[in-house]
Amino acid sequence: MERSAAIALLHQYVHEDGLIRHCLATGAIMKSVAVFFSQDPARWEEIGLLHDIDFEYVKEDMQQHGTVGAQLLKTAGVPEDTGEIIRRHNHFLHTGTYESPVEITLQAADSASGLIIACALVKGGHLSDVSVRTIIKKAKEKSFAAGCDRNRIALIAPLMEIPVFYEHALGGMMGIRTELGFV
Ligand SMILES: [Fe+2]
Repeated sequence: MERSAAIALLHQYVHEDGLIRHCLATGAIMKSVAVFFSQDPARWEEIGLLHDIDFEYVKEDMQQHGTVGAQLLKTAGVPEDTGEIIRRHNHFLHTGTYESPVEITLQAADSASGLIIACALVKGGHLSDVSVRTIIKKAKEKSFAAGCDRNRIALIAPLMEIPVFYEHALGGMMGIRTELGFV
């Protein structure tokens, strides 16, 4: 699926600006980290863009989240292996079962996107003023962006060093910063 088609599909089911931004950011991180792992950046971005497609639809019901998303995506013609990764990304149901780089990266990207967005907001919307140092410093403050689970980010540590992950995550988000509403 083309990126524009994935975003159009996302807009069919997600209307809240903050959630759209979260999905765009997670997609950008997935795309950037895919390059590190010599994987398909377009496919990884699609997974990130669409991972929360059902979040409003299921009214944030974490027993349904992911499962319903995979069904919506199947109906939309998204390949089933992509839908399966999205079905399983709900860590409330599947924590401790992530082994492949793409599933681990989705866990880390899902949390790091919120952390980096929060860093940009602290900088007055200037993502360009956020550095890897900023992210590492803010990640250590437990009360900062408290909903962003640091343990899910740490899952990627055996595969790539955390500062390198943040560098890729930030680079990916910088690439679409105007779409994210940042400068
Ligand atoms: Fe998410």
